[in-house]
Amino acid sequence: RILIVDFGSQVTQLIARRLREDGIYCEIHPYTKTDEAFLADYAPKGIILSGGPHSVTSADRPNVSNLLGYGVPVLGICYGQQVMVKELGGEVEVSGEREFGRAEVKATASSPLFQTVWAEGGQYPVWMSHGDRVISLPEGFHTIGTSENAPFAAIADELRGFYGVQFHPEVVHTLDGARLLSNFTKQICGLTGDWTMAAFKDEMIAKIRQQVGSAKVICGLSGGVDSAVAAVLLHEAIGDQLTCVFVDTGLMRMNEGREVVDLFRGTYNIPLVHIEAEDQFLGELAGVSDPEAKRKIIGRVFVEIFEREASRIEGAEFLAQGTLYPDVIESVSATGGPSVTIKSHHNVGGLPERMGLKLVEPLRELFKDEVRDLGRELGLPDAFVGRHPFPGPGLAIRIPGEITKQGADLLRKADKIYLDAIREEGLYDAIWQAFAVLLPVRTVGVMGDARTYDQVLALRAVTSTDGMTADTYAFSHDFLSRVSTKIINNCEGIGRVVYDITSKPPGTIEWE
Ligand code: XMP
Repeated sequence: RILIVDFGSQVTQLIARRLREDGIYCEIHPYTKTDEAFLADYAPKGIILSGGPHSVTSADRPNVSNLLGYGVPVLGICYGQQVMVKELGGEVEVSGEREFGRAEVKATASSPLFQTVWAEGGQYPVWMSHGDRVISLPEGFHTIGTSENAPFAAIADELRGFYGVQFHPEVVHTLDGARLLSNFTKQICGLTGDWTMAAFKDEMIAKIRQQVGSAKVICGLSGGVDSAVAAVLLHEAIGDQLTCVFVDTGLMRMNEGREVVDLFRGTYNIPLVHIEAEDQFLGELAGVSDPEAKRKIIGRVFVEIFEREASRIEGAEFLAQGTLYPDVIESVSATGGPSVTIKSHHNVGGLPERMGLKLVEPLRELFKDEVRDLGRELGLPDAFVGRHPFPGPGLAIRIPGEITKQGADLLRKADKIYLDAIREEGLYDAIWQAFAVLLPVRTVGVMGDARTYDQVLALRAVTSTDGMTADTYAFSHDFLSRVSTKIINNCEGIGRVVYDITSKPPGTIEWE
């Protein structure tokens, strides 16, 4: 196992992800926690020091002497390289030439880190993001790679097994990064790479049991993949100590509520409280058109209902959530980080404190596709695990303007026709997210010699890897016109269908 020591980089989780993809077990721990006792207990075969936002030239540089003295190979990335160099007696300066984004590294020596990947003398694309840089090496080190602005872009002390890189091998823009990390864990640390998602599942189950003990746990189901995977995992770990709560907002997709209830009560036999709250949600949303106001109302009503129902479950001490790693990053930025809040994503973050509950978040370290793998490992049906993401506020943000039951029903029907057609065409898995949006615009048409004056439906389908950026999906013209005809023939009230061809940015995926 590898220990990843986190100094606060935005991309630390990507290191873990690259390692897991390569069959290596690893855990991320903040540098404040990795003392001698921790190391003795965790017993890593290798250590990776992450990047971070701080400067090692400042006085409160973290002490990493115990990590370097532990006696296993260490790879320092960016800030991790600088902190290692400084600790061992080299020098780091605040560089006049900051280097961000793409750069070229020239491999100036052969090294176990480069083995079969980078050849001496070759130039390779990497991704850099640093202000400080190393200017002199500690004893025992030599340079194995240079770039224009980082003369010590890659360094090594092979005898002690210490390696440092100024660039980020964990991001995809460093083309061979994953293979360099693999060299570190396999060639240098001697790991075999036989770790699997099945092993992760077993470890998570053990951890959940340890955390929860004999207490009761409540888990809110949203209908989406994440909360479902979290719930099934918890159920394997603690059986009937778990109760799920499913609040049907009336803003879900067609049959979604029923599918969730059938799956949990029927297939898994997991205790489930099912609350029909359509009237309450639509009542509170009546007359509201502002997107952020809609989100806030839905968030508040959800919390109220959930709180009421959960307080009836006696002895509950924990709230389980299907929080993923990207949610963790997003909520960090939403609570005062450097990035701007574009949309206040609805979550139940305020609940645990209000209700005096502790949190269980078994998926916090995973990315979406890893959660899907875990779901398959737990035996969830492929069709469920492969579902497109669905926003917490549901159809409310796919009906610009005021929401009515009639509008929600019409949209549900049209959305199902569109999604069924996508499935029939075999395109569902190639698309990140596809959905319909019911516009508050009426246009004139002609049907069977009569004039119509009906609403416009917009279809959207995007490809993406993480939802942060997206491209529109290029359906064939023929496919789109078939869907359009089918929707207009079957959905009274919709008179025109358009296809949204805006990428993200500048658009967002949802219309609101
Ligand atoms: P945007 O529209 O911001 O969407 O490009 C990115 C991803 O997030 C989903 N989304 C939300 N999810 N609550 C959620 O739980 C929200 O308020 C919300 N708004 C957007 C969206 O469906 C897409 O997958």
